[in-house]
Amino acid sequence: MLNYDLLNFKVHGDHTGNLVALEKGADFPFEIKRVYYIWGTDKDVVRGKHAHRKLEQVIVCTSGSCDFILDDGKERTTVHLDSPTQGLHIKSNIWREFTNFSPDCVVMVLASEHYDESDYIRDYNQFLTEVAK
Ligand code: TYD
Repeated sequence: MLNYDLLNFKVHGDHTGNLVALEKGADFPFEIKRVYYIWGTDKDVVRGKHAHRKLEQVIVCTSGSCDFILDDGKERTTVHLDSPTQGLHIKSNIWREFTNFSPDCVVMVLASEHYDESDYIRDYNQFLTEVAK
């Protein structure tokens, strides 16, 4: 079984609109050290193409939609994200690619660690070697 979770966030909604608050504890799995977001990516572009040795991330499609391809070296699945109320929680050692971006897609990533290039595995064969250990 691929090791990921789809989190359903609590929505504070009323006639003025909606709000989601993410705070470590009951509704969020780790302390957030870094946030980045991605937009303006053409539909057929494939981003990501890496795994992390330690990092955990929660990925939220705050606007529009896109597809996440997840691969643990044994199986591969596609998760379609199209709601700001859902977060895709990915732990370490999962190869990820994301694509099929809608024109209005904005992807926000909440990360458990600061940016560290040494935590990246950017070569798929190297990833397969590391997860087979
Ligand atoms: P990259 O990891 O290639 O993006 P993606 O996996 O979405 O295709 O990152 C793009 C650039 O941004 C690269 O030069 C590294 C830089 N970057 C940071 O400086 N800090 C960060 O937290 C991230 C995620 C990327």
